[in-house]
Amino acid sequence: MADIILGIESSCDDTSAAVIRDGWLLSNVIASQEVHRAYGGVVPELASRAHELNIVPVVSEALSRACVKPSDLTAIAFTRGPGLLGSLLVGTSFAKALGLSLDIPVVMVNHLQGHLMADFIRQEGKPVNEPGFPFLCLLVSGGNSQIVKVDAPLSYTILGQTIDDAVGEAFDKCSKMMGLGYPGGPVIDRLAKLGDPGRFKFAKPHISGLDYSFSGIKTSLLYFVRDEMARDPQFMENNKEDICASFQKTLIDILMDKLIKAAKQTGIKDITIGGGVSANSGLRERLVAEGNKRGWRTFLPEFKFTTDNAAMIAIAGYYHYLAGERTPLDVAPVSRLADF
Ligand code: KG4
Repeated sequence: MADIILGIESSCDDTSAAVIRDGWLLSNVIASQEVHRAYGGVVPELASRAHELNIVPVVSEALSRACVKPSDLTAIAFTRGPGLLGSLLVGTSFAKALGLSLDIPVVMVNHLQGHLMADFIRQEGKPVNEPGFPFLCLLVSGGNSQIVKVDAPLSYTILGQTIDDAVGEAFDKCSKMMGLGYPGGPVIDRLAKLGDPGRFKFAKPHISGLDYSFSGIKTSLLYFVRDEMARDPQFMENNKEDICASFQKTLIDILMDKLIKAAKQTGIKDITIGGGVSANSGLRERLVAEGNKRGWRTFLPEFKFTTDNAAMIAIAGYYHYLAGERTPLDVAPVSRLADF
């Protein structure tokens, strides 16, 4: 009999539900929350309220698009953390209640593991293109910047991570500072395509090993813009494309330098990226270019699987389910990775 898994994701500001059958995607529905745009960042209380409104229609839509009845489900996979506690509580409580009412198991998933497994979501009519184990994943989002060695679907080691801000935060905060809007990543990405990446130089951090730091570049940009604006109040407006291109190039250089180092140290040549920042066109181009130069096999997730989505939770949950894992109903969501 087929294993049909409903995935539920509610860790931040996207409410998402997806259905997979034996690892093949049947549906993936995402309701994004526009309410945060006016505040220049996610407001946790508003996010949980929006999840409460969205969760039932999103799950119903995912089941209906998949042509699956609740009674057909084998198990429910849900994001237990990390993320915003109030947001996680909505998805976790819903998953447990639905599992209880249908008398089927629930399986908790670490959100980050979902990103790691995004390349394993199989889709009808599309070629299967999955990395071999072990592979390296550059996991870059609004909350994380990590290099992860993935040995098997359920076995991975974090080789390096940020010691302060995540790279997505650097995009978002710097965009806000430059008055370009939120979320900053897509805006900077778009403007960067029109600019000269070599025009301005920003200081890069010197961090040992495979760890990252992105707080210094934020300060470097802040002082740069402040000083130039003091000389010419039109500086930002007249140079925003070049500033974005140069700033984005610096972030990509920082990310790639450590990824190259990790690939050399481990000898691993299958390299993937994941998380919201993996949608960045400059980073994607650079990964492919470095891969061609270094004999890597590179894997770029489809855009719809880069930001938060339940398809990746469903696929990770599927592997947990196959491994015999079942989550007790008294499990609570966790906001920090360290607690997971
Ligand atoms: O994975 P995600 O949807 O949420 C979590 O952080 O869990 O990632 C959101 C982050 C935001 O910081 C956003 O600015 C960034 O991903 N992002 C991008 C791009 N699209 C989204 N950053 C750079 N370039 C993009 N095209």
